[in-house]
Amino acid sequence: MASSSDSKGKENKVSTAPKTLLLGRHEIEEFLSMNEALRVVENAFKLKAQGKAIMPRKIYLDLSEYQGDYRAMPAYIDGSAGVKWVSRYQNNRKYNLPAVMAIITLCDPKTGYPLVIMDGTLITRMRTGAAGGIAVKYLARKDSTVIGMIGAGIQARAQLLAISEVLPRIGEVKVFDQYRDARLRYTEEMGAELNISIRPVETVEAATEADIVVATTYATGPVVKKQHIKPGTHINAIGADAPGKQELEADLLSGAKIVIDEIEQACHSGEINVPLSEGYLKVEDIYCTLGEVAAGMKKGRENDAEITIFDSTGLAIQDIVCAKLVYEKAKGREVTTFDFFD
Ligand SMILES: NC(=O)c1ccc[n+]([C@@H]2O[C@H](COP(=O)([O-])OP(=O)(O)OC[C@H]3O[C@@H](n4cnc5c(N)ncnc54)[C@H](O)[C@@H]3O)[C@@H](O)[C@H]2O)c1
Repeated sequence: MASSSDSKGKENKVSTAPKTLLLGRHEIEEFLSMNEALRVVENAFKLKAQGKAIMPRKIYLDLSEYQGDYRAMPAYIDGSAGVKWVSRYQNNRKYNLPAVMAIITLCDPKTGYPLVIMDGTLITRMRTGAAGGIAVKYLARKDSTVIGMIGAGIQARAQLLAISEVLPRIGEVKVFDQYRDARLRYTEEMGAELNISIRPVETVEAATEADIVVATTYATGPVVKKQHIKPGTHINAIGADAPGKQELEADLLSGAKIVIDEIEQACHSGEINVPLSEGYLKVEDIYCTLGEVAAGMKKGRENDAEITIFDSTGLAIQDIVCAKLVYEKAKGREVTTFDFFD
């Protein structure tokens, strides 16, 4: 605070602090495209692989009595410090609310002053989609054209949006969900949005007959089986992001090239968490991180026969770089602001 005096000699405090921005979903939609999310998230993965980010492991607040949980996800990357506070309530469908909801705050790393508080729900969707898109870019066969979606919820939409940005040609998308109405809605909505051929299928096996398989369920047991995955397939395993969650059969992992987003998180809560804890897999079986592949430190796909798996848990650095991009764009615009300490 700076000081000035009025005519009666009374001291007024003049705040030199910037206003804090408050950004809702519409602003995130306006300021963040999937293309930009892909660019900044890929760069974040590279910076992390090069040791240029600080990111403690996310912590969980488990409210199992409500069938929900919260995660606190802090990070410092590329000059930005912030945290995401994100919940996961898998029965929110009945309240007409998303299963995953979040807020993100960025602070000035020199002073800690809160620069912005924003919706993190859409950013979570976009940055997770972007991670899947980057995995496809580096790990899927270049001639991949058929995509099989397991799960037809919110993340299934973001994944397909990102993949459509990185894959030269999508021939067909097959979608399976445990709920018939979910797979029909997905087919209709995503087909119209991306103008591609999407077909609902009635079994997991029909969907996994594909070049790229994307699993986005909240399953806690294997849904995708080894016997249904042909050589050369790439799999994005997105849904498992908490201890006990699992979408792929353990046998499928043990024969594949496993690329993770971050070792501690993946072991704790990623697709590999159950096979590791049950002894089907060892930490040494993990090939590397996606950041190491993107930064050229490790090879991605090496032939057309290997099965590659990207195990995504979701990193705070992905959120912070997307939030920073949104904040930088919003600064010069007419958006809601407030004085944090007045
Ligand atoms: N890795 C990450 O960074 C990340 C980020 C966001 C969400 N997630 C996780 O991804 C999962 C999906 O999130 P969402 O927001 O899309 O949820 P959602 O509820 O919108 O969609 C999940 C869909 O999966 C279907 N499903 C569940 N179990 C199934 C099964 N056994 N077989 C077939 N379909 C099944 C459901 O019917 C639903 O349509 C959650 O587990 C979530 O925690 C991970």
